[in-house]
Amino acid sequence: MNQLTFKAVSIAKTFNRRKVFTEISFSLANNQSIAVAGRNGSGKSTLLKILAGVLSPSKGEIEMNIGNKTIKPADYFVHLGLVSPYLQLYDEFTGWENLDIFRKVRGINTPDEYLNELLKRVNLWERRNDFVRTYSSGMKQRLKYAFALIHKPPILLLDEPTSNLDTEGISTVYQIMEEQKKNGILIVATNDAEDIKQCDQVIDLNLQIRKENNK
Ligand SMILES: Nc1ncnc2c1ncn2[C@@H]1O[C@H](COP(=O)(O)OP(=O)(O)OP(=O)(O)O)[C@@H](O)[C@H]1O
Ligand SMILES: [Mg+2]
Repeated sequence: MNQLTFKAVSIAKTFNRRKVFTEISFSLANNQSIAVAGRNGSGKSTLLKILAGVLSPSKGEIEMNIGNKTIKPADYFVHLGLVSPYLQLYDEFTGWENLDIFRKVRGINTPDEYLNELLKRVNLWERRNDFVRTYSSGMKQRLKYAFALIHKPPILLLDEPTSNLDTEGISTVYQIMEEQKKNGILIVATNDAEDIKQCDQVIDLNLQIRKENNK
């Protein structure tokens, strides 16, 4: 496995003149995980968007290295998967078509069998040919996991990972988190105590402190 490092160096974000956070730093390597916690509006989703490269920080920078190679922000999407309430699915297509479109847009040749495997894994196989607009909110959340995992990303970012999920869905998500920790880096934005327990460090955006997670 290539050595992977993902760093946030003194990240600050201000919207207009409102400071969201001022000084976020951490460094993660293969098999490491961090939970991002904090009150509503403390900036968890904002930080994940910055880490995913879909939003620019006001100050500071993100660094991604694989082996000796420094990855450019424009290429971050190739190496990371994101599950987020802000992610839009294509409502007028079926679950299977959504994955197929995503695979084509990304220009990756994931075999059909892997898409089928993902749909089975998130328990949407029976509903794969139904339009996404007919899905329940938990089913949409499950489909987002299939999306995020299509390209087997070394970095997985999860914002509100267990929202809308039933017990079985939550257990699938915790298995996905376990596997991610074996293979790469996991970053989870959440206020759910059980979700936080899955990670080995926790950063609190209100206090802006990072500590080992004493489980
Ligand atoms: N596009 C934007 N323009 C202006 N302000 C924004 C924008 N996006 C977020 N904010 C503000 O940034 C702050 C952090 O929002 P964010 O959504 O990151 O919080 P959060 O910790 O994810 O909250 P929650 O727990 O409710 O999901 C809030 O004050 C929010 O109003
Ligand atoms: Mg949020």
